[in-house]
Amino acid sequence: MTPRKIVDDVFWMGAIDWNRRLFDSLIPLPHGTSYNSYLVKGSEKVALLDTVDPSTRHILIQQLEDIPEVDFVISHHAEQDHSGMLPEVLERYPDSVLLCSKLAKDMLIDHLHIPEERITTVSDGEKIDLGGKTLQFIYTPWVHWPETMVSYLSEDQILFTCDFFGSHYATSDLYADESQVLEPAKRYFAEIMMPFRKSIQKNMEKIRPLKINMIAPSHGPIYRNPRFIIDAYSDWVSDMPKNSVIIPFVSMHDSTRLMVDHLVSSLTDRGVRVHPFDLVHADIGRIAVELVDAATIVVGTPTFQTGIHPLALYAVYLVSLLRGRLRFASVIGSYGWMSKGVEQVTSMLAPMKLEVIDPVICRGKPREDDYKAIDALAEKISERHNTLGVK
Ligand code: FEO
Repeated sequence: MTPRKIVDDVFWMGAIDWNRRLFDSLIPLPHGTSYNSYLVKGSEKVALLDTVDPSTRHILIQQLEDIPEVDFVISHHAEQDHSGMLPEVLERYPDSVLLCSKLAKDMLIDHLHIPEERITTVSDGEKIDLGGKTLQFIYTPWVHWPETMVSYLSEDQILFTCDFFGSHYATSDLYADESQVLEPAKRYFAEIMMPFRKSIQKNMEKIRPLKINMIAPSHGPIYRNPRFIIDAYSDWVSDMPKNSVIIPFVSMHDSTRLMVDHLVSSLTDRGVRVHPFDLVHADIGRIAVELVDAATIVVGTPTFQTGIHPLALYAVYLVSLLRGRLRFASVIGSYGWMSKGVEQVTSMLAPMKLEVIDPVICRGKPREDDYKAIDALAEKISERHNTLGVK
């Protein structure tokens, strides 16, 4: 794809990765992704903002064929899907200067072996004038690495945000179709940004005074209506979860499945939204998405050998990393001859300081009393949600 004009002298560049199906060797990408780079041409200087993942090298190199001079190469984020082509770009434009945040400098040297003399660090709030195009650098740490920053093109009121506000969404549309991009943006937020919710809250306050016409991220389409994604983020980073329970579970002989089915029904009867995920088949990206809103997690697991099922272990570990807005946790499941399931799950989730609500563990197939205990668990979850005031 050739460079595409956004406004006069500002162009989208980069690569659409239609066929990528996994990010970080972890999260499924049902819609592919893109690595957006941008070109800003002033009357005196030219700046290239970020590069592309090296797997799409040939696309960027072809686009650069028609760009004889670049004066500044700006790196908003040192992760390789945006910085991986920096060495080759700097080689191609030997007089160019690489601009990055202070924390990014050593990261770029270590990750990409960029010669120190090619790098100039910029301060938070610093501006460069390209000639009728002014870029202001704004530090936005922890979206989602410590060195991240964004650039604000004041004449055109475009905010270039790299990962911040991005979506894993491959599309030939330059601008976001809001009905299409919301789920991929939420999936992206869930995996990448959610653990840094508090930092993102601060960064959103920091950019609030800016008058923004467009948000141009480095994954997914550009937002011509910035309010759409800013409002979505304001919801996702807020402290209040929703009236929602996530139930990642696995069952070997159907006892745990029967318990999960009963809990789903019991919670639904009480007006609580429920998202059960059979971990044998589940898309963990969907689990991450529901984790953005869930107030409660109930892990369903049988005992495998002496511990919880490895698939449940994997899911609980993922939850402990992604965190979300969870407030309550419980465990349900069955065992054959012993169980340490509750202890394992609660110790893994302990750093999240969740309130653990009465686990229900039974030997073999659940009996009437076990179903009553599950109803009691559903009732307590519903009460806790009501007390919290979730919607
Ligand atoms: Fe898209 Fe953190 O890299």
